[in-house]
Amino acid sequence: MSELGQFRAVYESAGVYDKLLLPHYFDGRDDVALVTDLLERTIGAPCQALDIVEFGCGTGRMISALEAYASRLVVCDYSAAMIDAVVDNVAVDETMWADTRDAVAKLLREGRDGRFDVVAAFWSLSYPIGEFFEQMSAHAITPREDVDLARERARHFVGDMVKLLAPQGHFIALHFDAATPEQRLVTRLWERVSPFPEGGRSYTLNLLLDGLRAAEDRGDGVLSHTRCGGSAVAPSREAALRWFLAVHLKSYPALVRDPQVRAEIEEFIDHYALSDGSVALPSGAHVIHFRRSGHPVCHIPRRQP
Ligand SMILES: C[S@@+](CC[C@H](N)C(=O)[O-])C[C@H]1O[C@@H](n2cnc3c(N)ncnc32)[C@H](O)[C@@H]1O
Repeated sequence: MSELGQFRAVYESAGVYDKLLLPHYFDGRDDVALVTDLLERTIGAPCQALDIVEFGCGTGRMISALEAYASRLVVCDYSAAMIDAVVDNVAVDETMWADTRDAVAKLLREGRDGRFDVVAAFWSLSYPIGEFFEQMSAHAITPREDVDLARERARHFVGDMVKLLAPQGHFIALHFDAATPEQRLVTRLWERVSPFPEGGRSYTLNLLLDGLRAAEDRGDGVLSHTRCGGSAVAPSREAALRWFLAVHLKSYPALVRDPQVRAEIEEFIDHYALSDGSVALPSGAHVIHFRRSGHPVCHIPRRQP
């Protein structure tokens, strides 16, 4: 594949994402178990009775956690290769090959607001939110001109995701932590190409939380948010290097061919390498849960008669 053809291959070429993805552990459990715990804590025991939509589903890794709760499962991803992988791997009721922003808008146009008991997105909302602010190609990152408009559209998009929720429905998301040493390195490397909007790479998380907080302030539900520390484990230095180049840097040509970029990544990997040759990178996940409810009184335990 040509160098330009490799740009974003992690999401757009079949089989690449699963090969490069490093397992992430939080308190000794992987991120799928983290989602399983969150579902159990917020919804209860698996019931196979809920209408669920997952945006940015990738190859369907998280479906193993979601399907125990689903009577109907809709999955969306902007990559045709990802949708094909899901269809090959798991039984779903509906697939949408679309950008998350377009998928949300389409579901609302179809009158499916208030229809989903669970709206989920794992490690994927930074992309559609970021795309309100800038457009990326293999050659350049081009900021959109009107930042105020981008911010307003991003908040509106979050509000639209909330509108999909049925009464008492759950919005759940995992989002990367931009403050870890690994993500700070990734930020520095991308900033060789272009600075991030809104003063830093945590802006997509901040906008997501702002949008959910605004929904809470309107009385539409309750937001809970925690941060879990953990690690990503690469079996070798080479796997860790591929993780940085192909996943974090999306094989962006100007970065992956820059010897200084490689040197900085290799130095970082060496710092976290273990004696058996594997590499444990410090990682962090923001775990976000929003419960839709008409009034805050819903969250007060009922008095015993
Ligand atoms: C880091 S992967 C996460 C995949 C999956 N949720 C998981 O946990 O394994 C990000 C996913 O978001 C998808 N994606 C990226 N930009 C998107 C967009 N604007 N709209 C919809 N999906 C997008 C990618 O194709 C990829 O499948």
